[in-house]
Amino acid sequence: MLKYYNVAKILVSDLLLRPTIDGFCSLVLIASFITIMISLEDQLSLSKIFLQLAVVLNLNNSKKCEEFLESKGYGIDVILLFWNLWCSSCMLATIHGRSPFITSQNITTPLPYELHSGNENSALSLDFTQLRIKLAEIQGMVFQQLYTSNTINELQFINLEREFEQVSIQVTRLKGSSIFEEHLFYRSRVSMLELSCSRVQTSFLLYRPYLISGKSVQVVTMAKSIIHEIWSYYTKKFSNNEKERRKHLDWNFCYPIITASLTLCVSCIILLKYKQVMRFHGDIEQFEYALALEILQDLVQILPIEQKLLDLVKAPVNSQWPSDDNFVNFWALKLNEKSP
Ligand SMILES: *[C@@H]1O[C@H](CO)[C@@H](O)[C@H](O)[C@H]1NC(C)=O
Ligand SMILES: *[C@@H]1O[C@H](CO)[C@@H](O)[C@H](O)[C@H]1NC(C)=O
Repeated sequence: MLKYYNVAKILVSDLLLRPTIDGFCSLVLIASFITIMISLEDQLSLSKIFLQLAVVLNLNNSKKCEEFLESKGYGIDVILLFWNLWCSSCMLATIHGRSPFITSQNITTPLPYELHSGNENSALSLDFTQLRIKLAEIQGMVFQQLYTSNTINELQFINLEREFEQVSIQVTRLKGSSIFEEHLFYRSRVSMLELSCSRVQTSFLLYRPYLISGKSVQVVTMAKSIIHEIWSYYTKKFSNNEKERRKHLDWNFCYPIITASLTLCVSCIILLKYKQVMRFHGDIEQFEYALALEILQDLVQILPIEQKLLDLVKAPVNSQWPSDDNFVNFWALKLNEKSP
């Protein structure tokens, strides 16, 4: 597989010299299958290369996008592909402790709610992508404003929290919309779980400093509830779960699994941190931690590369740091951070 990955990398550099929209779309789609076989670090670099390609093609420019939309052959799918790529790239960057590669200030691409589609199927993916973009944007802002300096600026925090709460309400609303068409129903279950994961990842970035300083355990509440949500979707305890998932498997199955496993890992790190901070608390949080490990053990069968994340959350004290993986290093550092 590595061979094909290397071939793909050469193709990408060729494409950077002679960029085409078709080439861009094909690569991004193919990459969604490759991601399951490469490390998180490589996924991050790949998404950066794709975004560079998108910039060369002017996909971050509203005028050019309008031209694409007017010209025959390219529909709103290209725009949605660009946005979803950008969102994944933001998630990968912030989860590695880095700033996103392009910030929203440098993107004038039309937002999903400005695009019109005729059918119910794409209405769902427009709503989904719209909220995903909003959350990715907040992730980037939280990272820039709260993580690049050592002191927490109260006013910045309050503004970010307000934005986060507004999107959060919209996510809850979308999750409550009624869907009575079979294909759409199963598709929406996956999308809503992804949206829940993005929401929680944003809250992890936002509230984590407050756990360390002992001001709030909001981040612990979020971690526990997302573990329950992911568990109920992936557990093998109910055989119907897996049967239904297989039956309605979508071509785009890699990202939801990656998002879920990363979210579970970070949730475990937060629970471990909580245990450190609240020494007298004992084993109270072990229930969710055990549920998360159960699902991670299953997901790691599909995603072999994530074994080292599992090692980190299973034996945080024994793991040897620094490791060659930035994700592990960033979170290991966060885990060892002392309260002021
Ligand atoms: C936007 O892009 C320009 C040119 O690449 C860069 O100088 C600038 O810092 C970027 N702005 C933001 C907000 O990312
Ligand atoms: C697109 O992104 C590039 C790189 O960040 C930036 O230089 C350029 O100004 C952006 N275009 C728009 C229309 O914001």
